[in-house]
Amino acid sequence: MIIASPLLKTDALCAGYGRSQVLSGVCLQAPRAGAIAILGRNGAGKTTLLKTIAGELVPMSGEILFDERRMNEQPAEVRARSGIGYVPQEDAVFAGLSVRENLQLGATRQTDKSGIDEILVVFPKLGARLGQVAGTLSGGERKMLAIGRALLGRPRLLMLDEPTEGVWIGVIEEIAEQLEKLAATMSVILVEQHLALALRVASHAYVMDRGRIALHGPAQQVRDDPALLRYLSP
Ligand SMILES: Nc1ncnc2c1ncn2[C@@H]1O[C@H](COP(=O)(O)OP(=O)(O)OP(=O)(O)O)[C@@H](O)[C@H]1O
Ligand SMILES: [Mg+2]
Repeated sequence: MIIASPLLKTDALCAGYGRSQVLSGVCLQAPRAGAIAILGRNGAGKTTLLKTIAGELVPMSGEILFDERRMNEQPAEVRARSGIGYVPQEDAVFAGLSVRENLQLGATRQTDKSGIDEILVVFPKLGARLGQVAGTLSGGERKMLAIGRALLGRPRLLMLDEPTEGVWIGVIEEIAEQLEKLAATMSVILVEQHLALALRVASHAYVMDRGRIALHGPAQQVRDDPALLRYLSP
């Protein structure tokens, strides 16, 4: 995918853990509005890619450009303040704090009351649970809280690592609808195992295989590509 002015661009990105390289030459672009999906079997490098963009891992080589600004050397907090929102695959909420406290921590300003109200419109289920300790939420409610918390940072790019993992099927639909709405006005990167959902929400898809982009293109085209199942099968 070539976009005239992408919000995020990675160029030949290589990264990993210590001396163990996971990502090799990852080139990816995310538009200023709309969602892209990142697919791939377990261990393909999807989480590693999001961590590298968010600033939890330092690239070995290549470049991360966010709004044309090089981010390679910027700490995670600077990237977050610049507008890179990240909902990690695990431990995305403070289990010992209430729903309200979790949302307050996500707000860029302590007094961002209107922001919290907006999140309760997006995810009404959270409204009834403001005083509840986050550790006792259901899997779906916890994912909604994590997304809400990230949205309160007012990101321009929202990266979601498997937002429907461990979520009951009825709630998956609710999350998917909200992601579609969010993608209408902001940039979304969706790592998702649920293929149909990912290709419905996203206009473009990237399929990873052993740390590389093996296949990419418009979501429809990727869905119909005979190679897709090979890359997704264990
Ligand atoms: N902290 C770490 N230290 C060393 N290697 C790691 C670490 N985290 C992940 N890896 C390795 O990096 C590779 C890619 O892992 P990653 O978590 O990015 O995959 P993934 O595509 O997100 O998989 P999943 O679908 O299971 O979440 C795997 O081989 C994994 O074992
Ligand atoms: Mg992962």
